[in-house]
Amino acid sequence: MNKERIFSGMQPSGRFHLGNYMGALGNWVKLQHDYECIFSIVDLHALTSSYADTSQLQENIREMAIDWLSAGLDPEKNIIFVQSHVKEHAELAMLLGMITPLSWLERVPTYKDKIQNLSTQGKDLRTYGFLGYPVLMAADIILYKATRVPVGEDQSAHLELTREMVRRFNYIYNKEVFPEPQAVYSNAKGLPGIDGRKMSKSYDNTIPFGASPEEVEARIKMMITDPQRIKKIDKGNPDICIVYQFQKVFNTSEVEDIERKCRAGEIGCVQCKKILAEKMNVLLADIHLRREELSRKPNYIREVLEHGEKRARVIAEKNMAEIKAAMNVF
Ligand code: TYM
Repeated sequence: MNKERIFSGMQPSGRFHLGNYMGALGNWVKLQHDYECIFSIVDLHALTSSYADTSQLQENIREMAIDWLSAGLDPEKNIIFVQSHVKEHAELAMLLGMITPLSWLERVPTYKDKIQNLSTQGKDLRTYGFLGYPVLMAADIILYKATRVPVGEDQSAHLELTREMVRRFNYIYNKEVFPEPQAVYSNAKGLPGIDGRKMSKSYDNTIPFGASPEEVEARIKMMITDPQRIKKIDKGNPDICIVYQFQKVFNTSEVEDIERKCRAGEIGCVQCKKILAEKMNVLLADIHLRREELSRKPNYIREVLEHGEKRARVIAEKNMAEIKAAMNVF
């Protein structure tokens, strides 16, 4: 088997949403057929920002596993596991920390933004762990010598840093231990939230992945449309309408027709939202059902994660031995 190896991860930081699905998971489901894939529920990363309240952590991990399986990830084809269960992630992050210049971490564009954004929610992110987020992420990827990393475009700076760390490690220890991983972006550009900002749990503007049809409808009703449009016969401007952006992603067959009718004042926002809700619910109905079914099988979920952990550990232990040998650490 000479398939290229993929690694990717997601933080179990609450209810998984459609932004994560369009930006990453949907892509994973496609890639699983052509690559050797390792997917990790990165609980240590979740701790970097949610260290103060860990009461939901185990529940969130279980829910994330259910989301992945209900979206169609095959636990036999792929290695699916929890990051902290394979201790080499923490060990490699520690070793990489030794060779990571502080300036590289301080200049990551998301670093200062996030500190500011999340401090408004009472989270103090001026911690060693949060600064080291990209180091831990680099460790995740290169521990398995993965060559491809499917992520949303918001992760590009982290991926670039990972490549720089690979070059630095190989240069310092004078050995080509790691390959340089490449990002694999999905076609969908970042999906906006229902208020037009990036869809993110911290903004409370998401559509949850396992949402019921009623919930989907309610969230779509809240979406912002062209504010200049008061009556149905007013001519609309889809370019500034959130519903239109969703139609482009979830209703490709009708979107052109809807755009024309909106500009001509022939379709109202209420009807447009109704059409979108129906389309999205067709896609989400199956997922919703599978989620419900898997939620009733906690033992099965545990077995899947244990099976993945064993398989991940075999690769991690072997590579860790090589890494430590290169650094003369035994
Ligand atoms: P996380 O959990 O924040 O995001 C998971 C994935 O979802 C994508 N994403 C989005 N894509 C499009 N539109 C959105 N609104 C949106 N919101 C989230 C993210 O790009 C990501 O791909 N740092 C990673 C977790 C991680 C990781 C890794 C990834 C840890 N170690 C190793 C790859 C390889 C993250 O941001 O997760």
